[in-house]
Amino acid sequence: MVLIMWMPRERTDLPNSQPDSSNNSDNKPTETSDWRSWIHSPVLPRGRQKTTVVRNMFDAIAPRYDLVNRLMTFGIDVHWRHSAIKVLALPPGSRVLDLATGTGDLARMLEQRGIRAIGVDLSMGMLQASKAKAPLVQADGSATPFSEGLFDGAISAFAIRNFSDLQAILSELARIVRPGGRISLLDVSEPHGIMGLGARIWFEKGAPLIGSLLSDKDAYSYLPRSVQYLPSPSEMARLMGTSGFSCVNHRLLTGGIAQIYSATRSSTL
Ligand SMILES: C[S@@+](CC[C@H](N)C(=O)[O-])C[C@H]1O[C@@H](n2cnc3c(N)ncnc32)[C@H](O)[C@@H]1O
Repeated sequence: MVLIMWMPRERTDLPNSQPDSSNNSDNKPTETSDWRSWIHSPVLPRGRQKTTVVRNMFDAIAPRYDLVNRLMTFGIDVHWRHSAIKVLALPPGSRVLDLATGTGDLARMLEQRGIRAIGVDLSMGMLQASKAKAPLVQADGSATPFSEGLFDGAISAFAIRNFSDLQAILSELARIVRPGGRISLLDVSEPHGIMGLGARIWFEKGAPLIGSLLSDKDAYSYLPRSVQYLPSPSEMARLMGTSGFSCVNHRLLTGGIAQIYSATRSSTL
């Protein structure tokens, strides 16, 4: 495994907290609180604080991340990942960024299809647990070390909720993906109806129980709360469009438990 540490410029433009009227009377943890305090705070972290919380939390759960992930999704996540790669619609030999690669599941699947993958993630713990052969870079996806138009495509799984600044991530993808290149972003979704009820019970009770038994109770109690960060499909389409992507498509998987956004990098920015 080739692991590169990239120390990007410190992003100072991210606000530290939610742009609302909340103040510390909401029991919001202070700047120096650790990630566990934030996980239990009534106000979810935003901006730089969220980046720190997310990185430290994934560092903590990295060793058993794959096992818990498979059990929590009954292995359906593998099928969802295949779908995310399929909608990229890129031939073998293409160069593809696996953004927020984590332990490298997607990167490995890309490699198996003859696609040249490069993985990027904030969390060194997750990268060290990676089983992918792809080169790995520790970096924030909103400020990567890659040159303009380097990639034929970019893909990401289960990270939309975890990004602190989605607009900055999409703009960076538009910079490093060539015109005509493709992106595919997979994450969980919030299904409606009976499917929604079942999924909610599972993700609010079952999955955190598995996570707490096998890994870290605090981190896995964050999972159901993190869906609050998901943008609506119309907001996501707007963000993708203003960042430099066209042909935006949104599809739901497994009755709406998961979703994939795909798009083509516009010919001009
Ligand atoms: C739920 S995990 C998903 C990992 C992997 N993609 C998978 O499918 O299993 C989310 C990952 O996003 C990473 N992440 C969150 N924000 C990031 C950012 N701004 N830049 C790079 N990675 C980020 C976290 O460190 C974590 O590894």
